[in-house]
Amino acid sequence: MATPKLPSVYNLIALDSVDSTNAEAKRLAARGEDDTPDGTLVWAGEQTAGRGRRGRDWDSPKGNLYCSLVLRPEVPIAEASQLSFVAGLAVFDALAALSEPGHEVQLKWPNDILLNGKKVAGILLEAETAEDQTPPWLVLGLGLNVGSHPQDTDFPATSLRFEGWGSTDTDVLEAYCRRFLLWSSRWLDEGFAPVRKNWLWHCRGQGEEISVRLENETITGVFRDLDEEGALVLDQDGKERLITAGDVYFTDA
Ligand code: BTN
Repeated sequence: MATPKLPSVYNLIALDSVDSTNAEAKRLAARGEDDTPDGTLVWAGEQTAGRGRRGRDWDSPKGNLYCSLVLRPEVPIAEASQLSFVAGLAVFDALAALSEPGHEVQLKWPNDILLNGKKVAGILLEAETAEDQTPPWLVLGLGLNVGSHPQDTDFPATSLRFEGWGSTDTDVLEAYCRRFLLWSSRWLDEGFAPVRKNWLWHCRGQGEEISVRLENETITGVFRDLDEEGALVLDQDGKERLITAGDVYFTDA
């Protein structure tokens, strides 16, 4: 792994291999702020027990990007969860900056990044706190398929290499960290409104019929909006339903 050039607010911990960068970042964060300040970034060449959203595994061979950022924003958990959208925008901008013409980058609710219609990256935000409290730390994990991607996924996946990009994991990490700094300061200064607006500009499927796989059922409706807390607003025959967790599929695909 080449050494990345990162803004000085980041404190990089680079590892060849780890169970999960999120798990490692959580262990470090729990030691306290003096030991593990805001901006501590765990980056690993591979994960032996990478984790995705909703308890799934995250395929983590060498050659892709796996990183987790420890954040201590001192805001209640409901607001702090907006940071996953902040990260989505940072990944979007990073890929847009590295992209060659002719490629389409899009955001997919809640925290996926699509490249040419297929999933190239996912975000996992974790905190250990009661529902209405201010967490002492959050861990924001990003997995981005640089050199390879899994084949047997419900939603099609891709990698930068498969799409013909020459960027390395180090290039993407540098680009992401710079954009995350910009978007997170904007979020701290101006709140969720500009994040929500920009997220909606770059997302796939707004105004279209989608299906959403929930824990025990799959529902369909028109994807109308993202609410103030990041929930998906689904219009089911004129009745609005707020979705806080689920997997989106596009019916036009
Ligand atoms: C998703 O399900 O889309 C979220 C995937 C998040 C994967 C990343 S890889 C780095 C960090 N460590 C983990 O174990 N998971 C996240």
